[in-house]
Amino acid sequence: NHPFKINSLGHLEVGGVDTIDLAKKYGTPLYVYDVNLIRQNCRSFVETFKKVDVKAQVAYASKAFSSIAILQVMKQEGLSLDVVSEGELYTALQAGFPSERIHLHGNNKSINELKMAIENNVGCIVVDNFYEIELLEMLLKEYDTQVDVLIRVTPGIKSNTHQYILTGNEDSKFGFDLHNGQAEKALQQLQNHTHIRFKGLHCHIGSQIFETDRFTKTTDILFGVLARWKETYGFIPEVLNLGGGFGIKYTENDTPLPLNTYVEEITVAVRNHTKQIDIPMPEIWIEPGRSIVGNAGLTLYTVGSMKEIPGVRNYVSVDGGMTDNIRPALYQAKYEGVLANKANQENETVVSIAGKCCESGDMLIWDLPTPKVDPGDILAVFSTGAYGYSMASNYNRFSKPAVVFVENGIDNLVVKRETFEDITRFDLTYEG
Ligand code: LLP
Repeated sequence: NHPFKINSLGHLEVGGVDTIDLAKKYGTPLYVYDVNLIRQNCRSFVETFKKVDVKAQVAYASKAFSSIAILQVMKQEGLSLDVVSEGELYTALQAGFPSERIHLHGNNKSINELKMAIENNVGCIVVDNFYEIELLEMLLKEYDTQVDVLIRVTPGIKSNTHQYILTGNEDSKFGFDLHNGQAEKALQQLQNHTHIRFKGLHCHIGSQIFETDRFTKTTDILFGVLARWKETYGFIPEVLNLGGGFGIKYTENDTPLPLNTYVEEITVAVRNHTKQIDIPMPEIWIEPGRSIVGNAGLTLYTVGSMKEIPGVRNYVSVDGGMTDNIRPALYQAKYEGVLANKANQENETVVSIAGKCCESGDMLIWDLPTPKVDPGDILAVFSTGAYGYSMASNYNRFSKPAVVFVENGIDNLVVKRETFEDITRFDLTYEG
C-alpha cells in the first residue's frame, strides 16, 4: 500500500535501488527519499493550477524537511518556498533558491530575521501581529524600501487533527483574529502604506487534514470578511494564501484525497466567491509540506535486541527512535513498516518496535505484523519524509542520521551522518 516495490531478492526497493544495499552502504538509521515521487507530488499541485487556469504559487513548507538538496529539487520544480526562521531562510539562500519566491513566516520574527528578509529581497513577508508591523515599518523606513505583505488571519475554524498541529482556531498563537476587529485594524494600518504593498490574506487551518470542506469553509469565512472590506475600504485582495495541511497516508486508517482534488475544490470555491462579490480572481497560494515529502521518505533501521513478555508483547528494538522520529512520542502518530530484507515473506508474528533512547515513550510502532524477526534485519518505516529529519534531536547524544536521495536507480548522499566530533563540537572544557 505504500509506493515502493519488492525486487527479485525479496528486498524492498526505492526508486530502483535495493534498500538493503543502501543500509550496507550508508549505515542505519537512514532516511531515504524517492525523488521521483517528490517531483510527482510537486507537479500534481503545479499542473492542476495550470489546468484550472489560475495564477498560483505552490510554496513548499520547508519546515517539513529542509536541506540544501531538497530545496534544489523544489527550485527545479518551479515551486516557491515557505520559511519560518533565519535558519530556514539561510538554508534556502545557500541552496540558491530565488529569493523573490521565498515567503517569510513566523509569529515572533526577530529584527535580524526581518533584516535578512529585506536585505535579500524575499518575495513576501507574512505579517503575524501588530508588534511585527511596528518593526517592519521601522526597518523599511531605515532601508528606504518596500516589501509585499500578506497578513496571517485566524478564521476560527476547527480542523479534525491533533491539537498540537491545529492552527486556524481562534485560541491560537498565530495571526490576527478575523472576527474581533484585529485583522481589520491591521488592514487599516497596511492599506495605502508607503513601504508596505499589502497584497492579501494568509491562513493555515492545520495539518494532516483530509476533508476538502475544511478548506472550502475557510474560503466562505474569508470572503464573508472580504465582502465587507470591499464595501468599507475598497480593498480587493491580489493574493489569497490558504496554507498547507493536506493529509497523507501513514496507515490504513488514513484516507487522503489525490492532491489535485484539494486544488480543484479550493479554486472552485474561491472562483464562486469572487463572482458573488464581484472582484477579479486573486492569485491562489498554497503551502504544502507534508504532502510533498511525507510519503516519499522512509527510514531504515537495523534490528538489535528483542524482549518477549509471554502473552503480553514482543518488543523489537531498533538502532534509532524518537531522536529521528519524535512524532509517535509527541503526537501518538501511527506508522507502518516492513522488514526490508524479508519484504516477500508472510507475516507470522506481531511485534512492537522500540527505539533505543532511555525513555519508555520511545516507541515507533505498536503491534506491527511481521515475518519472524531476527537481529540484523532491516526495518523500513514508511512515510517518514515530513517532520522526521526536521524534528530530529541529539537526545542521549545520538548523532542525526544521514539522508540519501534515490532517483532513477541512482543513490546520492545529501546530508551526511553526524559524527561524535559533531556532537561535541560546541562543548568547551571547564576546569572549575
Ligand atoms: N503553512 C503554515 C503556515 C504552517 O504552519 C504549516 C505547518 C504548513 C504551511 C505546512 O503544513 P503541512 O502541509 O506540512 O501539513 N510537526 C507537525 C506538523 C506541524 C505543522 C506546522 N505548520 C507534525 O509532525 O505533524
